[in-house]
Amino acid sequence: MAIKPVLRMGDARLLRHAENVSAFDTPELHALLSDMRETMQALSGVGLAAPQIGVNLRVVVFEVQHNPRYPDAEAVPGTVLINPVITPLNEALEEDWEGCLSLPGLRGLVPRYLHVRYRGQDERGALIDRTVSGFHARVVQHECDHLDGILYPVRIQDMTQFGYTEELFPGQEMRDE
Ligand code: NI
Repeated sequence: MAIKPVLRMGDARLLRHAENVSAFDTPELHALLSDMRETMQALSGVGLAAPQIGVNLRVVVFEVQHNPRYPDAEAVPGTVLINPVITPLNEALEEDWEGCLSLPGLRGLVPRYLHVRYRGQDERGALIDRTVSGFHARVVQHECDHLDGILYPVRIQDMTQFGYTEELFPGQEMRDE
């Protein structure tokens, strides 16, 4: 287990289409997930995708525990999601602020589907099938975008709503995805 360096926007490895995982419950997969969790926790991130540490596989992790410092943030169960497929349940979109560990110190206002179903597998190959809304849905969409080489700035509709966290939200601590 190790805390890995997180690639930053501009690194071409963040722009690749990641590959499906075909072998589950292997020492290599468990080691990758340990590294991802440890890196995400060390940086107080909400989520992390394998490509962000240079591993080109369709693997994401995310977790939001209730934290009194972020009273508005909904809790999201700790999840390992492999080979995910996201299906919007309707056309409803919601805009909200996002950050990303690959763009440290920045925030942007990003539209996301409000209600989605997501399916995939956990590290042992067991099926995951959830229907979620709001912040949970946003986190999943953000992380899974990384698997297709998409960073959130490309989804911002109004580039005046993109900038440094310290300037946009002075004095506020905010977590990155
Ligand atoms: Ni991100």
